[in-house]
Amino acid sequence: MKIAVIGAGNVGATAAQRIAERELAEEVALIDVVEGIPQGKGLDLTQTGPVERFDTRVTGANDLSAAARSALVIVTAGIARKPGMSRDDLQATNASIVRSTCAEAARIAPDAIFLIVTNPLDVMCAVALKATGLDPRRVVGMAGILDTARFRTFIALELGVSVEDVTALVLGGHGDAMVPLPRCSSVGGIPLTELLPKEKIEAIVQRTRDGGAEIVSLLKTGSAYYAPSAAIAEMAEAILRNKRRVLPCSAYLTGQYGLRDLFLGVPVKLGAGGVQGILEIGLQPDEQAALHRSAHEVQVSVAKLAR
Ligand code: NAI
Ligand code: 2OP
Repeated sequence: MKIAVIGAGNVGATAAQRIAERELAEEVALIDVVEGIPQGKGLDLTQTGPVERFDTRVTGANDLSAAARSALVIVTAGIARKPGMSRDDLQATNASIVRSTCAEAARIAPDAIFLIVTNPLDVMCAVALKATGLDPRRVVGMAGILDTARFRTFIALELGVSVEDVTALVLGGHGDAMVPLPRCSSVGGIPLTELLPKEKIEAIVQRTRDGGAEIVSLLKTGSAYYAPSAAIAEMAEAILRNKRRVLPCSAYLTGQYGLRDLFLGVPVKLGAGGVQGILEIGLQPDEQAALHRSAHEVQVSVAKLAR
């Protein structure tokens, strides 16, 4: 079984490493337009196998034909943010890359599930769906697990507890209007709202929203990749091992939460075949309004592409 990772930059190569270390496939095909980079990184990663004890081969290629017959295609190709840039600033360039790579990958890997990572995430999922013509359940975006991991980390740091005991939920688009939900977050089963005062929770919510920008401002030359690649590997495992995990992912809505015909971060049952279902939770009026504001941002960006 083969997984293709398109884009051998920071996110793609680190995702390939995590996937190989979990032996989620016999082969990971790492594909990039820059000659030598996917081949070199692939060889280097494969040579970690004897030490890390995995037999997955990471192959490198410059041609999309290397994705043929993949069960999962992970799309990380594109440009990343630099300080001062929003995710939306990447839109036109990345849309053209995602459109062409996804159309070709769907042709040569007709049974694959498409896991989209390139930003602006929810918009790129829509681009991928249109380019591939696939059943929307086979196109899913990674962002919610990352945003939720940031939320969980900040909660654990504030309370001085293990991240393992912190569960949380972030809905909405992967942008400044994302919707962290303190009401659906808990620590060892205790609602977060009973453990921290409102102002502390609000500060954590804002730091979560700014989580990507905080890292961009520190790195200066690019954006986060360790946590994003961990989130990708978790989704890949759920799909390929049919785990039916309940994870926040960007999925195509067909009326859920009063929204349709767009990708947005919602709780998804993820397993064989991709999105097996979307879980709808009863939102408070302010939460529902925030989700609709976030959806509106995504819709406006998608509309800009159509112009
Ligand atoms: P990067 O710049 O390190 O890597 C991108 C790679 O894509 C480069 O190696 C480039 O040569 C390659 N590429 C460009 N055009 C290509 C094409 N047509 N075919 C194949 N490869 C191509 O960037 P990084 O940090 O890996 O980020 C990749 C993307 O993922 C960015 O758009 C970034 O914003 C996004 N991202 C999304 C996250 C999310 O939560 N959804 C989290 C982190 C990053
Ligand atoms: C992040 O949130 C770049 O979208 C990416 O780190």
